[in-house]
Amino acid sequence: MKAKKSKYFTAAKSNSDTLVVYFSAKGLQANGVLTKGNTANLAEIIADELHADLFELVSNDNHYPDDYRPLIEISKKDIEDNARPMYLEDVPDFNKYSKVYIGGPAWFFYWPMINYTFLEKHDLTNKTLVPFATHAGSGLKGIDDHLSQMFPKNKILKGISINGFDTQTDKEHVKKVVKNWLNEIQG
Ligand SMILES: Cc1cc2nc3c(=O)[nH]c(=O)nc-3n(C[C@H](O)[C@H](O)[C@H](O)COP(=O)(O)O)c2cc1C
Repeated sequence: MKAKKSKYFTAAKSNSDTLVVYFSAKGLQANGVLTKGNTANLAEIIADELHADLFELVSNDNHYPDDYRPLIEISKKDIEDNARPMYLEDVPDFNKYSKVYIGGPAWFFYWPMINYTFLEKHDLTNKTLVPFATHAGSGLKGIDDHLSQMFPKNKILKGISINGFDTQTDKEHVKKVVKNWLNEIQG
């Protein structure tokens, strides 16, 4: 069977009950000009290890500029406004997943608000959520708390945070850390 693929969604080769969904900024970032963001690298490693489907959240109206400084302003304003930027496309069959790994960069103790748009847009009943983030020092702090506050009925497994720089410069190390973490949480 040919795997389903669109610009933002890549199905695993065999049918998977696990989705990895993420947002990742591109362009001029804290660690240089990136054509592929740090969280994109981490999300791909996680999806690869899990043989999971992969979906990228991309704003439908260029909400997130490709430049660090304006992005800082937007991200702060979005937190103040509790904004819910909309994204392009969607996963073809969200109902089929029992586990949803969701990640993004740490932005002032939140994910980019587009991640919350995705979570609120879908019926998460009986789904296990697993958070991940890339960061420059703050880790998952705040992100995991917000997630359990927002979705108290869901089972939420221990997440992972990886220094964004490492995802560009030391992928083999990141793979090892991800493998160990997955072994730990999958028991
Ligand atoms: C708007 C903005 C806010 C950020 N806030 C934080 C933060 O609060 N804590 C932190 O450790 N890193 C922060 N960073 C750094 C990013 O989390 C880090 O570079 C991340 O790996 C970027 O991932 P991405 O390339 O997938 O977007 C921030 C970066 C941006 C652009």
